[in-house]
Amino acid sequence: MKSGRGSKTAEHNALFRALDARGAGNSAVIADPVAEKLLPWRFKLVTAPARWGAWRNAVTKIIDDRWPGVRPTVLARTSLIDATIADVLPTTPQLVILGAGLDSRAWRLPGLDGIAVFEVDHPDTQRAKRDLMRRRGLDARHVRFIPTDFNLTRLDMAMTDAGFDPGQPTLFLWEGTTNYLSADAVDTTLRWCAHAAVGSHLVFTYINEDVLRDPSRYVGADRVFSTLRRVDEPMTFGLAPSSLAIYLAERGLQLISDEGAAGFRSRSYGTASAAIRGHEFYRVAHARVSV
Ligand SMILES: C[S@@+](CC[C@H](N)C(=O)[O-])C[C@H]1O[C@@H](n2cnc3c(N)ncnc32)[C@H](O)[C@@H]1O
Repeated sequence: MKSGRGSKTAEHNALFRALDARGAGNSAVIADPVAEKLLPWRFKLVTAPARWGAWRNAVTKIIDDRWPGVRPTVLARTSLIDATIADVLPTTPQLVILGAGLDSRAWRLPGLDGIAVFEVDHPDTQRAKRDLMRRRGLDARHVRFIPTDFNLTRLDMAMTDAGFDPGQPTLFLWEGTTNYLSADAVDTTLRWCAHAAVGSHLVFTYINEDVLRDPSRYVGADRVFSTLRRVDEPMTFGLAPSSLAIYLAERGLQLISDEGAAGFRSRSYGTASAAIRGHEFYRVAHARVSV
């Protein structure tokens, strides 16, 4: 990430969600009512006219032609994660959103009463988000913010200082982030999650490491990678799906499910997903803290 500036990829994801919300009642996948409030001005100018279907379709076509598969994959992964949250959250009194970016779950999820919500993110992104929240009048008194660079700092002390209780079952979300980190940072953070109480869950995304070795095997990956280099957020880390269960078990986590983009897109888009190409290297995994 460029020093002193919030994550651009976090802004892109919020733009996808805000555009999607403009199709509410019609074509929306998650219909996030808060996403637009968290957008920087230049993106609000894009989403404001998106109440008109023709504008929305034109903008999404430009995005999808340029970066194949990225937008529908981000929306479908968020939808899948939301479904898992709905299942798990009633059993976990703490919700920790790692690499939160412009995630709006702290404001839009049902059932958060009585749940301690923590957002952990790179200090530059978190500062930019909190600044936006203040300007847009989003009340964040129920959220505890922990600025952290995963590549440089361990979470233990900062989370304890923020009131995190490792003795309570916790739902950890880590969406759209592991692929930007070092292998050590992912390892350290997963091991920290695994020290939470038995009954804790972790939902995270990762990329198939094959794409880092040979992007040409995946439709559109070269273009995505070149944009990510330009915004100084290159993809640096991936895992092999075939050894994910072992990788997690070595860190005290038990794999429950692991699904690739083509699979979870089909849940959100049905038969229309057959026409979506690109970003197939993206995956969502769900694990729990094992005894
Ligand atoms: C693609 S965004 C994902 C944001 C959000 N979770 C979502 O799905 O929309 C990547 C996130 O990773 C965070 N990130 C990247 N490198 C990081 C680091 N070294 N330490 C902490 N967070 C980092 C960025 O600040 C950003 O919020």
